[in-house]
Order: sequence, then structure tokens, then C-alpha cells
Amino acid sequence: MKSFLIGLAIGILFLLLLISLGSSFRSEQPLSFNHKKHNDQGIECTTCHAHFKEQTFSGMPALSVCLECHKDPLSQHPDEEKIRQYHKDGKEISWKRLYQMPEDIFFSHRRHVGIAQLDCRQCHGEIGQSETPPVKPLVKMTMKWCMDCHAKSKANNDCLACHV
Ligand code: HEC
Ligand code: HEC
Ligand code: HEC
Ligand code: HEC
Ligand code: HEC
Repeated sequence: MKSFLIGLAIGILFLLLLISLGSSFRSEQPLSFNHKKHNDQGIECTTCHAHFKEQTFSGMPALSVCLECHKDPLSQHPDEEKIRQYHKDGKEISWKRLYQMPEDIFFSHRRHVGIAQLDCRQCHGEIGQSETPPVKPLVKMTMKWCMDCHAKSKANNDCLACHV
């Protein structure tokens, strides 16, 4: 009985360790990107997220976008060299998504940014001022959150507007 309990305790500890390792791996980006430094250079959001005016999605920057400025070193930061290493290896940087709706939800940036003229910050907070990649969403996007703003701005709150 005693050895069973010890075995169980070790098993649980091991499981917890795996879970915590798993979550720290999930949130870590391949490269320490600094939004604030790029923002301070006056670089627009559209330079890297090019599609929010015309498409449902905003898009993540391809390596070619980074290379437009980073062919040669601009800083002392060790992660900058990683950009050129990815290029040498012929690989894209695999950015992990912070915001991702379930498959059955329809969301359109064009509708909210292009048509309703909302600011990125209303939904994404101060990510433009982040100095390291956020490990979790700055704004929690629940159904209630979507519906509260829709109620306030008299937008469509039919189930089938969002659930496709
Ligand atoms: C009304 C809320 C809202 C506004 C305003 C908004 N977003 Fe989003 N954004 C979202 C949601 C919701 C998702 C997740 C979409 C999905 O999974 O389909 C998202 C996802 C993203 C992503 C992930 C990748 C992708 O391709 O979509 C980026 C990048 C992004 N938004 C950038 C921006 C920028 C830049 C602006 C301002 C020009 C902006 N967003 C304005 C709600 C918003
Ligand atoms: C329009 C030009 C431009 C583009 C495009 C650009 N950068 Fe930069 N980046 C800069 C400049 C300028 C600096 C130096 C800023 C400073 O030192 O204050 C910089 C600095 C950096 C640094 C060093 C950060 C630090 O903390 O010192 C990294 C890493 C970096 N960029 C990554 C990227 C990645 C990844 C992309 C593509 C997603 C990218 N950059 C796209 C202009 C650009
Ligand atoms: C020089 C390129 C560059 C610029 C300019 C830039 N971003 Fe980003 N953005 C990135 C990169 C790289 C990531 C992934 C790493 C991270 O989260 O820091 C990202 C991630 C994001 C995400 C999270 C997307 C997701 O679902 O994972 C949002 C939202 C976002 N950016 C909004 C903005 C807004 C708003 C602006 C303008 C104020 C902006 N970005 C300017 C390169 C850029
Ligand atoms: C900050 C306010 C705000 C938030 C948050 C918001 N929306 Fe909206 N949404 C609007 C406004 C305003 C419109 C009306 C745009 C127009 O004029 O067409 C709209 C329109 C829509 C439409 C089109 C509906 C139709 O049939 O007319 C969909 C779909 C939608 N939003 C989905 C979402 C989803 C999903 C979320 C949460 C992930 C969300 N929205 C979060 C403000 C918001
Ligand atoms: C403005 C957009 C919007 C409207 C309107 C809306 N939902 Fe949702 N709903 C969402 C989003 C976004 C999620 C996922 C939220 C999350 O992941 O936390 C969700 C999740 C759900 C879920 C949880 C299961 C799942 O599919 O992820 C149920 C059930 C649900 N909605 C039912 C409804 C019903 C019933 C209505 C009509 C009364 C409705 N919703 C109207 C945006 C909406």
C-alpha cells in the first residue's frame, strides 16, 4: 500500500512537471520580438500585418519582410542574427499564434477595422508597446466579450452571425 502511494505521488509530480513544461514551450516564440522598438521607429502595423483592411485575417510577417531591414545588422541583440540564420537555412520563422478562434467562429478584420473603424488596441490591448512577445493574450476574447461590444455598438448578435 505504502509503495503504491509513493508511486502514485511520483506519478502525479511527473505529470505536473510535463504539464508545466508543455505550457512554457507553447508560449515561447522562436525569436524575442520587440514591438515597442519597431513602433518607436515609426514602422506601421501594416508593414508586418498587411491584410486587415481587405481580409478576414491580419496576417503574420513573412521572413522576407524582416529581411527588408535586417539583411545587415541594425542592433547588438543576439536574436537579430537568428533572422539571417533562418534565411540561410531557407526556413520561415514559425510564430506561434496568440489569438485563434475555434473553427466554427467567423471573425473578420476588414469588418471591424476597415468598416467599423475600430482601433487594434480595443481588441489587442497594448501589444504595440510590448518589449518581449506576450505569453498570453492581453485581452481575453470570450463570447461574452464579443457580444457585450456588439450590444453596445448595436451590431448583430444573432447566434449565426458568429457561429458558422
Ligand atoms: C474587434 C476586435 C479586433 C480588432 C479591432 C482587431 N483585431 Fe486582430 N484579431 C481579433 C480576433 C478575434 C483574432 C483571432 C481571429 C481568428 O482566429 O480568426 C485576431 C487575430 C489577429 C492576428 C493574428 C493573425 C491573423 O492573421 O489574423 C493579428 C496579427 C492581428 N489580429 C492584428 C490586428 C491588428 C494589426 C489590428 C488593427 C489594425 C487588429 N488586429 C484589430 C480581433 C480584433
Ligand atoms: C522597416 C524596417 C524593419 C522591419 C521590417 C523589421 N525590423 Fe527589426 N529592427 C528595425 C530597426 C531599425 C531595429 C533597431 C531598433 C533599435 O535598436 O532601437 C530593429 C531591431 C530588431 C531586433 C533587435 C531588438 C532589440 O531588442 O534590440 C530584432 C530581434 C528584430 N528587429 C527583429 C525583427 C523581425 C523578426 C522582423 C520581421 C518580423 C523585423 N525585425 C522587421 C527595423 C525593422
Ligand atoms: C516589424 C514587424 C511588426 C510590426 C511593425 C508590428 N508587429 Fe505585431 N507581430 C509581429 C511579430 C513578429 C509577432 C509575433 C511575436 C510577438 O507576439 O511579439 C506579432 C504579433 C502580433 C499580434 C499577436 C497575433 C497572434 O495571434 O499571435 C498582434 C495582435 C499584433 N502583433 C498586433 C500589432 C499591432 C497592433 C501593431 C502596430 C501597433 C503591430 N503588431 C506591429 C511583427 C510586427
Ligand atoms: C470593440 C467592439 C467589438 C468587439 C470586441 C467585437 N465586435 Fe464584431 N462587430 C463590431 C461592430 C461595430 C460591428 C458592425 C460592423 C459594421 O458596421 O458592419 C461588428 C460586426 C461583426 C460581424 C458581422 C455581423 C453581421 O452579420 O452584420 C461579425 C460576424 C462579428 N462582428 C464577429 C465578432 C466576433 C466573433 C467577435 C469576438 C471574437 C467580435 N465580433 C468582437 C464590434 C465589435
Ligand atoms: C458576436 C459573436 C457571437 C455571437 C453573436 C454568439 N457567439 Fe457563441 N461564441 C462566440 C465565440 C467567440 C465563442 C468561443 C469563445 C471562447 O473560445 O471562449 C463562442 C462559443 C460558444 C459556445 C461554446 C462552444 C463552442 O462552440 O466553442 C456555445 C455553446 C455558443 N457559443 C453558443 C451561442 C449561442 C446559442 C448564441 C446565440 C444566442 C451565440 N453563441 C452567439 C461568439 C459568438
